[in-house]
Amino acid sequence: MKDIVYVGLGYIGLPSAVVAANSGFNVLGVDVDLNIVSSVNDGKTHISEPDLNEALQESLDSGRLRASVCPDLADVFVVVVPTPFDSEMMPDISLVKAATKAVIPFLKEGDLFIIESTCPVGTTEKIAELIFSERPELEKELSIAYCPERVLPGNILFELIHNDRVIGGLTPKASAHAKQFYLEFVTGEIYLANARTAELCKLAENSFRDVGIAFANELSIISHDAGIDIWELINLANRHPRVNILNPGCGVGGHCIAVDPWFLISTNREQAQLIKTARIRNDVKSDWCIQQAKIAIDEFDQVSLGRPLRVACMGLAFKPDVDDLRQSPALKIGTAIAKIEGIDTLMVEPNVESIPDFILTESNEAYELADIVIWLVDHSDFRALKKDPSKAEIDFCGMRAGDCQ
Ligand SMILES: NC(=O)c1ccc[n+]([C@@H]2O[C@H](COP(=O)([O-])OP(=O)(O)OC[C@H]3O[C@@H](n4cnc5c(N)ncnc54)[C@H](O)[C@@H]3O)[C@@H](O)[C@H]2O)c1
Repeated sequence: MKDIVYVGLGYIGLPSAVVAANSGFNVLGVDVDLNIVSSVNDGKTHISEPDLNEALQESLDSGRLRASVCPDLADVFVVVVPTPFDSEMMPDISLVKAATKAVIPFLKEGDLFIIESTCPVGTTEKIAELIFSERPELEKELSIAYCPERVLPGNILFELIHNDRVIGGLTPKASAHAKQFYLEFVTGEIYLANARTAELCKLAENSFRDVGIAFANELSIISHDAGIDIWELINLANRHPRVNILNPGCGVGGHCIAVDPWFLISTNREQAQLIKTARIRNDVKSDWCIQQAKIAIDEFDQVSLGRPLRVACMGLAFKPDVDDLRQSPALKIGTAIAKIEGIDTLMVEPNVESIPDFILTESNEAYELADIVIWLVDHSDFRALKKDPSKAEIDFCGMRAGDCQ
């Protein structure tokens, strides 16, 4: 196994291709987006991820990575394209199908075909049917496996290598083949299962996180109404040896936890009641934050200011220290606040250069100018901002946690 094709050069595919290249494989990264292909070949990353620029440069310098819009012959094909949901919240695997169709002509006997995209249960079997309907001669000789990604944005290069992995082959032989591939660069444990178990495992992991965060978010509203500091409460409750309440925030966003539970809910309408409620409660938390911000703005003595009230929305990404705005509850809240008439909104996101429709303000400047500071995401960059007691602050993310103690 020397030549690898990664299909999809996004947040997961590009770092994966780089790690494989720097582990000694010859890697072709394929993407439908010509701009991404060009920038990768020029050594520029289109995503913000620590150390990725240097790692990309290393793989280009060694001649082991190149990008293209067209696949080629290889020993291993890895599909890492998006799997969104549609308007009915049903999983949309059309991009996985499209990526598969693009590589079908290049598959040959003895190859390994892996899906890493997060998928609803049964997808690997469907994709195998698609492949074998066009290439029936490969049915006995192509290894097909599902291996979900569980990396944390911001720590992807480390976790790609060190995390444990679950591999679900369509046959035991395919599982073993895939394990052999990952062992070339993964130092975490590798667990083998069947494909359906591996698919559900990924969905279970993210649904578990969503349910845990929903509990924390609901508790934060209950605490607020009771006049109790949620951060102090969680700190105390977690002293119980068997309790580990997660951190609340302004909702749940991103491409995974806010999306993947729907893959279970939409296909298990009767059974997935708790998972569905958690998903809805996490969305409700964002609406509650908008309401709280509006109350604070209404109650502020704006008349004595003699100018429009200035409100700073601190952090717009979906989680701390990333540039990813997908499904971001902070961006949703900031957008709603920016629509309030008669106030000046200062939008702050230190991890991105620009956001369509908004002018971004630098963190220090926004904090100094603002009358009301709304902490939406606890980015590390914000930690340096010393608290000014003259500011009204609303903390939805624990930026000021501990100040009450
Ligand atoms: N981002 C994460 O933190 C994360 C973590 C674990 C799993 N995942 C899963 O990994 C998968 C990929 O996610 P991502 O965040 O890397 O997505 P992304 O949107 O960042 O990147 C996907 C890339 O695939 C390309 N693409 C789309 N269709 C294509 C096709 N037919 N052929 C070639 N390229 C194509 C897009 O142009 C894009 O560059 C998803 O299923 C996601 O759920 C993501």
